[in-house]
Amino acid sequence: MDLQAFYSKKTVLITGGLGFIGSSIARRLVEMDAAVRLVDSLIPTYGGNPYNIAGIEDRVHVNFSDVRDIHSMAYLVQNQDILFNMAGTLSHIDSMTDPFTDLEINCLGQLKILEACRLNNPGIKVIFAGTRSQYGRARYLPVDENHPMQPTDVNGINNIAGESYHLLYSKYHGIRAASVRLTNTYGPRHQMRHSRQGFLNWFVRLAIDDEEIPIYGQGDQRRDFTYIDDVVEALLLVGASAKSVGQVYNLGSGQPVSVRRTAEKAIAAAGRGRIRTVDFPADKKNIEVGDYYADFSKIQKALDWRSTVTLDEGLARTVAYYAECREHYW
Ligand SMILES: NC(=O)c1ccc[n+]([C@@H]2O[C@H](COP(=O)([O-])OP(=O)(O)OC[C@H]3O[C@@H](n4cnc5c(N)ncnc54)[C@H](O)[C@@H]3O)[C@@H](O)[C@H]2O)c1
Repeated sequence: MDLQAFYSKKTVLITGGLGFIGSSIARRLVEMDAAVRLVDSLIPTYGGNPYNIAGIEDRVHVNFSDVRDIHSMAYLVQNQDILFNMAGTLSHIDSMTDPFTDLEINCLGQLKILEACRLNNPGIKVIFAGTRSQYGRARYLPVDENHPMQPTDVNGINNIAGESYHLLYSKYHGIRAASVRLTNTYGPRHQMRHSRQGFLNWFVRLAIDDEEIPIYGQGDQRRDFTYIDDVVEALLLVGASAKSVGQVYNLGSGQPVSVRRTAEKAIAAAGRGRIRTVDFPADKKNIEVGDYYADFSKIQKALDWRSTVTLDEGLARTVAYYAECREHYW
């Protein structure tokens, strides 16, 4: 698919546009000459960071607003061709101690965005960022899109609801929506101040700082990692494709790696750091899902997407990025 031809001159709104994935989509879209508008509330503990748009800040329009504000969303969705809906909370652990914030942003906020679209721009195409945590513990591997959804945390439940609203609005209100269920995504521009938004980016920071990387238990559970550029490519393909409407797609790498091996790779990429084995903390053990890796053959067949950046290469690029600008992230 010729993404350049499709996105050139398109109007695109990105919620969570100063975050890791949202800003990375924005950077690609600017290169393709799209008119890009970002919405972000910069809630301090999440991944929003104005530095993520360094170099393109004059070529995007930034609106500091919260997606739960239906009045600003009603205005912001107008005259937009496509909406990449990347505003969300990610922390599984936070969702267990502060479930209402997770509910407000991942459910109510999503419904408000969709209502804003229904009332002000029903012709828009919306791409939702779903998550592997919607599935919970895998009953079989690799996990395909038909796998039962029994999350082990509040965040997974709210994401099922957020995704379901999108599919419902697609079916009944004519909004052209699709969901991409992401697995662990890593790379430049992720927040690096705490570990609650996924462990691999945190492992990278610990390795760069030559610190100990704690591995809970054996660390032999396998996970699937996709590099940010591959994730952006998938989201753009789904945004551009007419046949994606009403669909959900898993992303994955096809190369599951154990948590321990992942730490070893982060250490190799940084040239520093070491592993320390510790007991599994009770709060983390309760929501641990064990092995997870995705069957992504659906998006492979439908849109010819596959992950192209290996974990070693992606980690090398990530370490190189922070060598240049760690002061904006640490
Ligand atoms: N990164 C991953 O590994 C991963 C995995 C699965 C799913 N996802 C999903 O992808 C999406 C983007 O994740 P990310 O990694 O870029 O996270 P991120 O924290 O870097 O970005 C999210 C952005 O949304 C903004 N935001 C949050 N709540 C908001 C609100 N109420 N109003 C306006 N802006 C708000 C934050 O300020 C932040 O900039 C999320 O929905 C997340 O659930 C990410």
